[in-house]
Amino acid sequence: MIAPEITTEGAVLNRVQMARISAVGTAVPKTLMTNEALSKFVDTSDEWIVTRTGIRQRYVAKDGETASDLGAEAAKIALAKAGVSAADVDLIIVATITPDMVLPATACLVQHKIGASKAWGFDLNAACSGFLFALQTGVQYVSNGVHKNVLVIGAEIMSTIIDYTDRTTCIIFGDGAGAVLLQQSTALEGGCFIDFLHEVDGSGGEFLNLPGGGSKHPTSHETVDKRMHYIHQDGKAVFKFATLKMSEICLRLLTRNGLTGKDIDLFVPHQANKRIIDAAAERIGAPPERVLINVDQYGNTTAGTVPIALNTALETGRLKKGDLVLMATMGAGFTAGAALMRWGY
Ligand code: UT7
Repeated sequence: MIAPEITTEGAVLNRVQMARISAVGTAVPKTLMTNEALSKFVDTSDEWIVTRTGIRQRYVAKDGETASDLGAEAAKIALAKAGVSAADVDLIIVATITPDMVLPATACLVQHKIGASKAWGFDLNAACSGFLFALQTGVQYVSNGVHKNVLVIGAEIMSTIIDYTDRTTCIIFGDGAGAVLLQQSTALEGGCFIDFLHEVDGSGGEFLNLPGGGSKHPTSHETVDKRMHYIHQDGKAVFKFATLKMSEICLRLLTRNGLTGKDIDLFVPHQANKRIIDAAAERIGAPPERVLINVDQYGNTTAGTVPIALNTALETGRLKKGDLVLMATMGAGFTAGAALMRWGY
């Protein structure tokens, strides 16, 4: 491992982290909900949704289908692709804001479902930045040599926390999961993580939250009557933050690695709104043909968006060995993250 250079701001510069993604798996529910179908029970239209968000459809879980179901399915696919047995998994990190239950952690349920008999694990909540935060956490365990096989999963059943009478939120979200397997990288050309920059700003909490059911507002008839068990969002404030922050954090990450947007082979941003992605890509200077967009197909699957987008990139031949990949997210918190990696297979 190359020794990190630390700046006066505490940033870790040019630290090549000897971990790589060696497989990706995804899982979405079978039920497809088009904009047309949504417009049958909420006052909206396909035209409005497509124009304002770029979303055309999303998948929604059937009753009883859980984050651990989708997470386990995605994990099994990733393990099969890598030819790794579940019994050889060391650690499972699940990023989710829609855990099956408050406890136990969804990671425990995934561990049991896939038969990862020797693994430990935990959940991580950073909303839409959850997958990138979990990924960076997993990278630490692999690159420091502690673990050989780490599963990082983003899994959400957003349809369980969406108010389908609120047209400003229900049109955006979808259900889905993505899993990646992290393994040690034997050589730089075999893929590696290069650098990351993650942030939280709790002053943004008022603009995007789910207030009911926690220690501040324990579930009661009153919290349910007030619909506090659903996501509440100030769309405009979130939009503004997302547009500015995703580009700002990416530019800082690129600059401190001596790169510009033109050096990136593929930009894989959080998929919440095509207008946010377009604005961020333009500010970063990433050419449109190098920007992965699949929000039209899946909507915003929160912690699921980045691994599902990586899978889309692989399936459509837009990601190949050696590519320089920039991933970026923003979400409730506010949280924001960016990570640079060299794709390894
Ligand atoms: O992962 C992070 C989570 N969230 C996000 O990233 C979301 C960020 N925000 C957004 O994507 C956008 O703000 C939204 C898609 C949520 C809303 O789009 P907007 O362009 O900011 O619309 P708006 O809230 O300014 O509303 C414009 C108009 C309003 O009508 P009036 O007051 O101008 O008559 C709304 O009532 O559009 C109306 N409107 C709708 N009309 C049809 C709001 N939602 C809808 C809808 N269908 N679904």
